[in-house]
Amino acid sequence: MSDKLVFVLSGPNLNLLGKREPSIYGSATLDDIHTALQERATHLGLTIEARQTNHEGVLVDWLHEAQASSAHAVLLNAGAYTHSSVALLDAIRAIDPPVIEVHLSNPHAREEFRHTSWIAPAAKGTIAGFGMDSYLLALDAAARL
Ligand code: DQA
Repeated sequence: MSDKLVFVLSGPNLNLLGKREPSIYGSATLDDIHTALQERATHLGLTIEARQTNHEGVLVDWLHEAQASSAHAVLLNAGAYTHSSVALLDAIRAIDPPVIEVHLSNPHAREEFRHTSWIAPAAKGTIAGFGMDSYLLALDAAARL
């Protein structure tokens, strides 16, 4: 049987990880995170498809692609779109694969505008505040679904 497919989608400014506000987001780059996820995925018997974009509509397209690919689950760090995007909320509601919301930082411990997630009501669950381990913990959660 082929491995279960998990999409790992990262949104705006996450291409700058490692250089971007390291006191908040840590020193690991997105490539480092994808490499660690790849290792963990092999261990868990999962295949991952890891991508990053700065564009909201591209994230919508990729969520649709996860549906078309019969993905087992999606890990989504929507970055700042978390706090603004009805389009992402609707896209998550429109697809079958469970979406796990991921954040490196703990948005609830930060500015008030980060306390509201527009996508949380449609997400299977949220993992936030553990730096790059948030992604790895979310992959473990995806494997258990
Ligand atoms: C983030 C938290 C968001 O509030 C912020 O806009 C980001 C990154 C995180 O991973 O901690 O870009 O999603």
